[in-house]
Amino acid sequence: MYNLAHQILKKLNPEFAHNLSIKGLKLGLYPKIRFPNTEILEQTIWGRRFQTPIGLSAGFDKNAEVIKPILNLGFSFTELGTVTPKAQLGNSKPRIHRFESHEALVNSLGFNNKGMDIFEKNIINSNIKENFQDKIIGINIGNNKNTKEIIDDLEVAFNRLHRLGDYIVINLSSPNTPGLRENLKSNNFEKIVNHLHRLRDKNHSKVPILFKISPDISDQEKKDIALISLANDIDGLILTNTSIDKSTLNTNLEGGMSGRPLFFKSNKVIRDLFTLTSGKIKIIGVGGVFDANDVLTKLKLGASLVQIYTSFTFKGPYHVQKLTNDLISLIQQQGYRNIKDVIGQHS
Ligand code: FNR
Repeated sequence: MYNLAHQILKKLNPEFAHNLSIKGLKLGLYPKIRFPNTEILEQTIWGRRFQTPIGLSAGFDKNAEVIKPILNLGFSFTELGTVTPKAQLGNSKPRIHRFESHEALVNSLGFNNKGMDIFEKNIINSNIKENFQDKIIGINIGNNKNTKEIIDDLEVAFNRLHRLGDYIVINLSSPNTPGLRENLKSNNFEKIVNHLHRLRDKNHSKVPILFKISPDISDQEKKDIALISLANDIDGLILTNTSIDKSTLNTNLEGGMSGRPLFFKSNKVIRDLFTLTSGKIKIIGVGGVFDANDVLTKLKLGASLVQIYTSFTFKGPYHVQKLTNDLISLIQQQGYRNIKDVIGQHS
């Protein structure tokens, strides 16, 4: 029944289908997946236990409305947001485009979200820590489009939300917010890293802070990001967001591309940053993961965890179950005792 519903969703306008999926998930219309034994996939990172390395990446649950359903579908962690301090509508529609034969999406949403007040209420009302002791919540924050200083918005959002997440992500890489990616340039990046670290100290918090990076950065930018990350002992990098290079799709659409054609490009950023940081900075790998082999590839290049978005929308509600079970078989076949032993093997 759920597979049939998913087949119908895939025929609808992508943003309408997304909104309908959120409604369906809120109503409990989804299969509840349990894994009997995932010991081989378990890791402790930032003092938190991840049951599997597979999470949902930011952008799907922008308003923290379906935390429980997503975790019930088999994800071991979900990254909520991107949330901005104030609600905003985002760019004009249509702003999500599906490329069926390429298994890709192009989106130009522009941080459409209901703002941090509703976001905060939704997390608190979900009673997540009582319901799921063994699941992890990431909170991805960003700036409103017309803010003058990005740092001011990040500060407001961090102060309000940091207590509610197991980790916080600073999104510096959406291609749909004008000027945002300028913050990946070395001086700007270092300023933001330092500011967030000071803010965390001020709040007497130890929450891990990660930075989400674009796949379109130059080799020099990679070197700068690696140096700054090491010098400031950052907790982690999320590699990567969507790409503005849409040459494989042969389209003039605005926005960022995700899905299958992003796989190699994001992998290169993972490999390069893992090498440049000598494996000392934790990496969450994201971009074009469709099957267990893809997960394993990203782990071998240096990611400790992996996230998906586009393949989840293409493959439907049983996708995470299949990915997880296939990953267990693959790791066993290749003779590894635990997922930790895989990380960085091919960097
Ligand atoms: C995204 N992504 C995203 N990332 C982010 O940090 N904040 C966000 O709000 C969004 N929003 C968003 C909307 C849509 C429709 C898509 C397709 C993607 C990027 C996403 O988290 C991920 O980094 C990329 O999509 C690459 O992964 P996949 O989709 O290839 O698995």
